[in-house]
Amino acid sequence: MTSTPSPQQVHDLVGIGFGPSNVALAIALHERRPSASQPAPSGLFLERQADFGWHRGMLLEDATMQVSFLKDLVTTRDPASDFSFLSYLHQVGRLHDFINHKTLFPLRTEFHDYLAWCAGRVADQVVYGHEAFAVEAVRDDSGRISHLDVLSRNAEGKVRRDRARNLVLAPGLTPRLPAGLTDSARIWHSEHLLHRLAELGPQAAPRRFVVVGAGQSAAEVADHLYRAFPEAAVDAVFARYGYSPSDDSPFANRIFDPQAVDAFYDAPQEIKDEIMGYHRNTNYSVVDPDLIDALYRRVYQDRVNGTERLRLLNTSRVVSVEERPDGVTVTVEHLPSGKQTPIEADHVVFATGYRAADPRDLLGDLARHCLTDTAGRPVVQRDYRLATTDEMTCGVYLQGGTEHTHGISSSLLSNVAVRVGEILASITARAPHGEPVPAGGVPGPLKEHV
Ligand code: FDA
Ligand code: NAP
Repeated sequence: MTSTPSPQQVHDLVGIGFGPSNVALAIALHERRPSASQPAPSGLFLERQADFGWHRGMLLEDATMQVSFLKDLVTTRDPASDFSFLSYLHQVGRLHDFINHKTLFPLRTEFHDYLAWCAGRVADQVVYGHEAFAVEAVRDDSGRISHLDVLSRNAEGKVRRDRARNLVLAPGLTPRLPAGLTDSARIWHSEHLLHRLAELGPQAAPRRFVVVGAGQSAAEVADHLYRAFPEAAVDAVFARYGYSPSDDSPFANRIFDPQAVDAFYDAPQEIKDEIMGYHRNTNYSVVDPDLIDALYRRVYQDRVNGTERLRLLNTSRVVSVEERPDGVTVTVEHLPSGKQTPIEADHVVFATGYRAADPRDLLGDLARHCLTDTAGRPVVQRDYRLATTDEMTCGVYLQGGTEHTHGISSSLLSNVAVRVGEILASITARAPHGEPVPAGGVPGPLKEHV
């Protein structure tokens, strides 16, 4: 184990990951006014990317947001904040143009720029290019775990250690490939699409792509490849009969409201499962209706023109993938007939979704202090704090990975602004019961437990 020196400063919170969730938290910290009785809490965030980036591999130039711009990083917590999307538009001189556009759904590229603008304004709180790889307990005199040390390393392997009273884990989603497959030169997850395409170089002339899945990512990837490679065919493979529309009707949309979190949190498990079942189609395995129409138009135009560049292999599944240096054979089974057909392709893109990171992976030995439910999942309190044994008095908070406790907005932007307000309120409310927030320097007799 590494022997980096003890940190000189104790942070009220250390955040792992600096995507939208923790950028929103950094903003909430930045906006927090210190009072005479309570200094403003201090935060430090670790981000493995060299700079701010939000799903850059899927930053397709005309993809739009799946959430209203009003659900930016601050507005639903504090409509007067100058970190809003509207403030950003004002700052970059596009406010009137955006108003005339009459849309609630900006381009993803534009929202990326907004997020980067926010991240830049709180850059004093983040250390980029550092991947957190371990968390160690620091015990007080009574032997309880009062602090945590977060170990991270940069690309050169240099390790840094940051000490925290509270940890806020926001590592985002992990791309999910079907069992037995790994990312390779010809087998890609949609998350990396633009990076893999850039690696192909200008001379590449792919003849056929296979795209697996029927969610928003799959539809966007099929659409992008069809348009970016006019000489190539695109085979979309999925088990459904057709792409199905996302439900963003107003009553169903209430599932993303902060109040819905309260109702979901308090519900018994069978009701939670039922709610998720009813409203899964607000987010998972569904596609924006405008994109469905655009794809249908392409298929129909192709038929009129006697070509078939975009083939929908519906009610089908991939049964095997064989990669060779010069291509990949994807065998597709038509589910109703059981007929199997090999397809020769240049690349296969699995737009097969994501899974939430398990906080216990990063916590290592400390994971044994996390309480679990009957299904073995972490118990998470309403304030997003992991429920732990009494031995652990410091806080570990989750942004993401709480769908089983807090509902469907867990991995989305919808509730980020309100959630960070709740987390910060919890951290500050707990502070007086622990040690006083120091002006700097390690307070009290702490023992390292490595
Ligand atoms: P996010 O994944 O954005 O950020 C996590 C960060 O943590 C990353 O920057 C990562 O590098 C870093 N990290 C991870 N492990 C680390 C470690 N060990 N050490 C240091 N850093 C680490 N939702 C929505 O509401 N509306 C939308 O329009 C969209 N659009 C959308 C498009 C695409 C293509 C995808 C894949 C997803 C969406 N989403 C979405 C859902 C998406 O989860 C959401 O927009 C945010 O990315 C969630 O923000 P987070 O900060 O929680 O995770
Ligand atoms: P998703 O909604 O989870 O869809 C995954 C798709 O892959 C589903 O069709 C699923 O089929 C299929 N699938 C899963 N495992 C499979 C396997 N082993 N074999 C074959 N097919 C498999 O994932 P997503 O489309 O990536 O969307 C994830 C999130 O990102 C959503 O919140 C979405 O809104 C967001 N997103 C937003 C944008 C945007 O803002 N423009 C763009 C992309 C994504 P089943 O239905 O049969 O399980």
